[in-house]
Amino acid sequence: MNKLDAALVASALQKSGFILTEHAREADVVLINTCSVRQHAEDRVLSHLGHLKHMKENRPELVVAVMGCMAQRLGTNLLSHEAVDIVAGPAQLPEIPRLIEQVLTQGTKTLAVTDKIRTITNPEQSEALDTFEYAYDSDVNHIPGQAFVRAMRGCNQFCSYCVVPYVRGPEVSRPPHAIIEQIKKLADQGVRQVTLLGQTINSYSYRDGDRQYGLANLLEMTSRIEGVEWIRFITSHPGHFDDAILHAMADLEKVCPYLHIPAQSGSDRILKAMNRGYTARQYLDLLIRARQIVPEIAIAGDFIVGFPGETEADFEATVYLVREARYKNCFVFKYSPRPGTRADSKLADTVQETVKKERNLRLLDVQNEINEIDNQQFVGQVIKVLVEGLSKKPHLNQANEGGMPQLIGRTATDFIVVFNGPESLAGQFANIHIEKAGALTLFGMLVE
Ligand code: 5AD
Ligand code: SF4
Repeated sequence: MNKLDAALVASALQKSGFILTEHAREADVVLINTCSVRQHAEDRVLSHLGHLKHMKENRPELVVAVMGCMAQRLGTNLLSHEAVDIVAGPAQLPEIPRLIEQVLTQGTKTLAVTDKIRTITNPEQSEALDTFEYAYDSDVNHIPGQAFVRAMRGCNQFCSYCVVPYVRGPEVSRPPHAIIEQIKKLADQGVRQVTLLGQTINSYSYRDGDRQYGLANLLEMTSRIEGVEWIRFITSHPGHFDDAILHAMADLEKVCPYLHIPAQSGSDRILKAMNRGYTARQYLDLLIRARQIVPEIAIAGDFIVGFPGETEADFEATVYLVREARYKNCFVFKYSPRPGTRADSKLADTVQETVKKERNLRLLDVQNEINEIDNQQFVGQVIKVLVEGLSKKPHLNQANEGGMPQLIGRTATDFIVVFNGPESLAGQFANIHIEKAGALTLFGMLVE
């Protein structure tokens, strides 16, 4: 979601005549997009602001804007930071070019956040946000040939640990025709893969007269768009997961058999305290159903370890769930108390940092063991990947004997594949013969 927001703002600024640069020292305006989901993310922003404050001592004309969730959460407090000129929440992103002009001409600090974040946005603001999404250009894509498309904004789940409902506001589904028009435009620009985004994408719901659209309908409409070859959607919430979505995945060739569906914990007691609305058994049953309907499906999950009151027995229940789930991968986070959330106001952060860290590593080890075994099945297979570009590790990036650099691509099931090939393959599909499988990465050779 944040990558999309950053791309949208970059696109809007380019359209207003700004030129992008990677380095703060070359910039007249520095924008920091922020995340509030854990304290660590906010601490990193504060540390960047410390550096920028230094820079501004020599260059007082430098304009610094902080945008996104942390801007919405901290508002005026953030504006009072010496380095900061603009604070703009997620709903105010379309205003950023204008706010920058204003600061450049008037030199005053500006705050643009939503006053009562849980009130439904007025139609005008919704429309402004929608127009803004539509202006997204594939040339600011993070990865060639791929684009994120927001299907929903906000969240109504109120998981007790989570700040998102308080910074991104109530759940709003975008009109399907606006989403489809946008994807058509992206496909015309050469986008081959679209990822539909929503905090709880499976609850996408839009009523148009007497027609009701759900995610399954949206997937079906997207798959009719010429040029689009792979469709993904993230992230799903395990509560009220409609089987129609699984059937759409099974029936529509373009929909990738990949499901990111966080469990967060395997302990029913903790799941209840997290306000997740399901039990570990219900969650595992959903995975069984998903695998029955979509046999080739790859499933990914998120977990929070060290939630208030999490005992060794609770954690063991999470380990059990991870073993049963046989994920493609999982992301593990240490609980971070977020001001304003129910968990923070009602429950003390009782689990020691060292215990959180240890549980985090233990859970990743369990997942690693599973991957070491399960990933071997790919060795010897030829798998189609969408090539992303040069691999991220420069020291591995040297050309091999055939003079071709190391590239990375992803399978429809979201596995990362590393192979040598011409850089011109970025944004294209390629077939790779898998020769070796690690826990996190598959290695192979390009099939001519
Ligand atoms: N502390 C730690 N992890 C969190 N997440 C959300 N809120 C918190 C928090 N307060 C994790 C969840 C979510 C992912 C995006 O971040 O696992 O799925
Ligand atoms: Fe946060 Fe829960 Fe909404 Fe995900 S579903 S964004 S964890 S409140």
